[in-house]
Amino acid sequence: MTSRKPFVGGNWKMNLHGAEAQNLATQLTESLPTTDKVDIAIFPAFGYLAQVGKIIEGSSIKLGAQDFYHQPNGAFTGEVSLSMLTDLGVSVVLIGHSERRHVIGETDSLVNDKVLAALEANMQVILCVGETLEQREAGKTDAINMGQTLLGLAGVKAEQMAQVTLAYEPVWAIGTGKTATPADAQSAHLHIRQALAQSLFNQKIADAVRIQYGGSMKPGNASELCGEPDIDGGLIGGAALQAADFAAICETAASQ
Ligand code: PGA
Repeated sequence: MTSRKPFVGGNWKMNLHGAEAQNLATQLTESLPTTDKVDIAIFPAFGYLAQVGKIIEGSSIKLGAQDFYHQPNGAFTGEVSLSMLTDLGVSVVLIGHSERRHVIGETDSLVNDKVLAALEANMQVILCVGETLEQREAGKTDAINMGQTLLGLAGVKAEQMAQVTLAYEPVWAIGTGKTATPADAQSAHLHIRQALAQSLFNQKIADAVRIQYGGSMKPGNASELCGEPDIDGGLIGGAALQAADFAAICETAASQ
C-alpha cells in the first residue's frame, strides 16, 4: 500500500468577520500540530485572505481560497482570478464544492475549466465530489462520484495529478450533523480511486492521490473515518471554526 500523507482543510465558508478570522488564525498558529505527518490548509472568505495570510506566514499552514474564476482577467464582475490569489499568497484552491454546485449552480464543465486553469497556475487543487441524498437513495452514489471525477479531471495530464487532491463530500452530510459511516465513506473512496486507476490514469497514480472525506467530520468521529485505508484526511466546515476542534482533527489525521 502506498503511504499517503493526510491532508486536512478548514473551509470557513462565508463565516467569520475580520477580527474573528484573525483570532482564529492566531489561535491556529499556536495550537495546530507542528508535525510534518499532515498537510494543513485553511480557506477564509475572500475579504480576509490578506489578513489571515499575514498571520499564518512562516507557519506550515497553507492559505487556501474557496473559489476563483478561471479566466486570467477582464470583464467578469465580482470574480477573482488565480493570479490575484497568487499575489495574496494562496497556494491551494477548492473547486466544485457542493455548495458551489448546488446553491450557486456550477456545472461539471465550469468545474473542469477551473481545474485546468488552477493546475496551469501551479495551484494545489482540491476537487470536491459527492452525491445528494436522492442520488444515494437511488443507488447512484458511485456513478455520481465517478461522473464528477471523470468530468472534473478531463484533460488533466498524469504529471499534474501530484497537484490534485479529491474530497468526497456526500451532500447530505455537509453541515447536517449526519456523517457517512466509515464503511460507506471507505466504499465511496475506493470506487473513486478505482475510477482514477481504470478510467483516467493508472493504479500507481490512483494510489498516490489523496482523497479527503468531508461532511460533519468532528473530533469525535475523525479517528474512525481517517482510520479507513482510502481516507486521507478531511475537508472540515463547522468544526474548522473552533481552533481546538480543528487542531484535534489535525492531530488525529497525523497520528493515523
Ligand atoms: P461540514 O462541512 O464539516 O460543516 O459538514 C464540510 C464542507 O463543506 O467542506
